[in-house]
Amino acid sequence: MRKPFVAGNWKMNTDSETCVSLAKSIASGSREVAGEGVKVAVCPPFVYLQAVARVLSASSIAVGAQDLYTESKGAFTGEISALMIKDIGCSYVLCGHSERRHVIGESDELINKKVTTAINGGLLPIFCVGEMLEEREASRTSEVVSGQIKNGLASLSAEKISAVTVAYEPVWAIGTGLTATPQQAQEVHALIRELLAEMYGGQPAEEIPILYGGSVKPENAAELMAERDINGLLVGGASLKADDFVAIIKAVA
Ligand code: 13P
Repeated sequence: MRKPFVAGNWKMNTDSETCVSLAKSIASGSREVAGEGVKVAVCPPFVYLQAVARVLSASSIAVGAQDLYTESKGAFTGEISALMIKDIGCSYVLCGHSERRHVIGESDELINKKVTTAINGGLLPIFCVGEMLEEREASRTSEVVSGQIKNGLASLSAEKISAVTVAYEPVWAIGTGLTATPQQAQEVHALIRELLAEMYGGQPAEEIPILYGGSVKPENAAELMAERDINGLLVGGASLKADDFVAIIKAVA
C-alpha cells in the first residue's frame, strides 16, 4: 500500500533562525506518524536547505529543494545543480511549480529537462501542474493540464516515471484561501491518472502519487484525502505554521 505523502513548500519564507525552529517543531510534533503512516517532506529556500537537512537528519522527514538547474556544473551564475542538492542531504525537488511557470516564465520544455535532470541526478521530482482561473472559466482545464503532463514528462521512460510524484495545484487556489472542492480536485486527479496510464500503463500509473495543492488547511485535509486519486497534499502557507502542518500530517496519517 502506498503511504500518503505530505510535502510543505516554504517558498521564499523563513530566515536562518525560523527555518531551524520550524523544522524542529514539525519533527517533534509529527514524530509518532511521520515515516510510519505518512511520508513527509519540507522544501525550504536553497540557502536554508543544509541547516534544515541537519536538523531533520535524525527524523523521518525528508528535505527537498524548490527548483534546480538542468546542468551538473559550470558557468551558470546563480543556478544550483541536482548534485549540489543531493550532496547536502536532500532527496526531493519541486519542478514546474506554478510560480516558476507564471512568475519566472518557465516553459514545459525547460520543466521537462528539470524533471529528467532531477531523476538522473538521483533526486525525486515533485512535478507540478495546474490551470489558471481564466483557463478553468473557459473550460480549458483538461486541455491545459493534459498538455503540461504530456510535455513535462515527454520522453521519460516507464522505469524513470517511478521516481516522480505529480502535484495538481490549480493556480486559482494557491495562496487565495479558495480550495478546489474534493470533487473538482478528484476530477483532475482522475484525468491525470488516465493520462499516465496511457503513457506508462495501468499499473505504473496506479503507483504514481498524485498530490493536491492549493490552500490546504487542517480543516480540509481529510476530506481531500478521502478522494480516490488524491494520494497526498502539497502545502504552502499552512506549512509555515508548525501546528497547522502537523495537524495536516496527522489528518492524513
Ligand atoms: P498555499 O497552500 O499557500 O495555497 O500554496 C500552495 C502551493 O503553492 C504549494 O506548492
